[in-house]
Amino acid sequence: MSDTPVKILGLAGSYGLDSKNGLLLSIAMGYCQEHGAEIHIWDHVEKPLPLVGAEGCWDDKNVKELQKLVTECDGYILTSPEYHGTMSGVMKNTLDWIYKDHVGGKSFGLMSTLGGISNSNTLNHMRIAVRWIHGWCVPEQVAVGKVKEAFGDDNKLVDSVLQERVEQLSASVVKAARMLKEE
Ligand SMILES: Cc1cc2nc3c(=O)[nH]c(=O)nc-3n(C[C@H](O)[C@H](O)[C@H](O)COP(=O)(O)O)c2cc1C
Repeated sequence: MSDTPVKILGLAGSYGLDSKNGLLLSIAMGYCQEHGAEIHIWDHVEKPLPLVGAEGCWDDKNVKELQKLVTECDGYILTSPEYHGTMSGVMKNTLDWIYKDHVGGKSFGLMSTLGGISNSNTLNHMRIAVRWIHGWCVPEQVAVGKVKEAFGDDNKLVDSVLQERVEQLSASVVKAARMLKEE
């Protein structure tokens, strides 16, 4: 087995790493690091992506940087707010910039946040998009419902079972990234 750590990229479907998805992503990325991965997080505030098809989008430097980074990485954690029963436009547009040439055969972990009670809509819809870019989703997944009350002052999830599920998902993405890289 190679000694080089696998690289995991975190992509949130919200602007701002202090958003609820930003908080959830940083918990997961912390666990990925604990499990031996080198981590990267895309910040949409610092590096916004144009809408696919917008004027000048094909030469956009942030898009080129994203595509280079996703190509270099071995696994991905996606976390999106649920908007009108599906992933946010930010998450869909981010996925629309990523092709199978960048991420095909690599591992993905999926998480979502909801203002209301937890469900699997956004997770299922992201799983379909990931299938189209030939990613391999790990079976673990996390949906955080009632998200306004979900985080404590320490920025951890108040529900310790959910917090543990984020660790299990992160560990699974790192493990799958290693296994798929060895192929
Ligand atoms: C346009 C819009 C649509 C939303 N639709 C839903 C929804 O369908 N179901 C739900 O539970 N929450 C819904 N919400 C609440 C968001 O899911 C919630 O604000 C988000 O998960 C918080 O994460 P953030 O801080 O990362 O944006 C919606 C919010 C917005 C702004």
